[in-house]
Amino acid sequence: MKKYLFCILLGLLCPTVMGIYYVSGIGCINAMGLEMAIGILSSGAALLALKEYGGTGKPIGHWLSALIPLITIPLIPAAMISHSGFEAFLARGMTPFATMEGFAIAQLVLGILMFRGLIFKRGEGRLMMPAIGFVIMSSVLRIRSAFINPARILREIGLQKGQTMLDYGCGIGVFTIPASKIVGDDGVVHALDINPLCIKMIEKEVRKRGIANVKTILSGRETGLPDGSVDVVLVYDVLQMITDRGRLMEELHRALKPGGSLWATAEHLDVNEFLDVITQGNLFTLVEQKGKVFRFRR
Ligand SMILES: C[S@@+](CC[C@H](N)C(=O)[O-])C[C@H]1O[C@@H](n2cnc3c(N)ncnc32)[C@H](O)[C@@H]1O
Repeated sequence: MKKYLFCILLGLLCPTVMGIYYVSGIGCINAMGLEMAIGILSSGAALLALKEYGGTGKPIGHWLSALIPLITIPLIPAAMISHSGFEAFLARGMTPFATMEGFAIAQLVLGILMFRGLIFKRGEGRLMMPAIGFVIMSSVLRIRSAFINPARILREIGLQKGQTMLDYGCGIGVFTIPASKIVGDDGVVHALDINPLCIKMIEKEVRKRGIANVKTILSGRETGLPDGSVDVVLVYDVLQMITDRGRLMEELHRALKPGGSLWATAEHLDVNEFLDVITQGNLFTLVEQKGKVFRFRR
């Protein structure tokens, strides 16, 4: 809820600051009006997105709240130049220009982060904007790697030599590669992702490092693994992107060995909703929590 409010405030901040700037006599009313209109559009989009968050309605708000700042970004300098001319813009417009662009870019980044599930994928069978999604996601995951230690998390969750692990929604392989070292030559890591660019990247990395125990799976749900063949499933920072979580749970339950562990994070989800999704139908039982990762037993 708060992030939507923040997005709305960012949308309002742009025309407000621009308005104060122009009203104070330095600029002009036309450009202010334009900025106002853009800000109101952005805020309206954020409100639509807020409605979407309840799970009803159409996804148009998601798209708009990420796309409108894309319109705002080129319109800001265009409005300023069209009013005051290029020379004047260069001479005195750079500070407000940089400020306004900063707001618009921040709003865009926020919009993308808020609705990344929609941008990276929609449903289990169809990818939207896979390339853009991949570029943004891989940058975010690289930055995140500086703050989390995937090998330590894998040790904490008790991954062991010789085990078979499924890294569901493996992304760029932040967990896949260290997991392959832990399970060793007698173990296997299945790296599954819906995005072919992730799979390609992991395959390249695995070839480069001469890793033999990583097998990739390109899929939006079905693992294709035999019944009861997996010791550990990791679903890290993925569940928020899944539309039919119930069916995914059935598939993970099928692939896991009896007594096997499903480790999952509740990122961007309400924790109670997260727990309900995983434990519904008594497929899994909550056992413990290590940091932000919850362990469920099959
Ligand atoms: C935020 S990333 C997390 C990647 C990895 N688990 C990590 O923590 O480094 C989420 C990943 O889930 C993938 N994904 C989204 N929907 C999926 C689905 N239905 N099935 C499989 N993977 C999916 C995305 O392509 C993306 O690579």
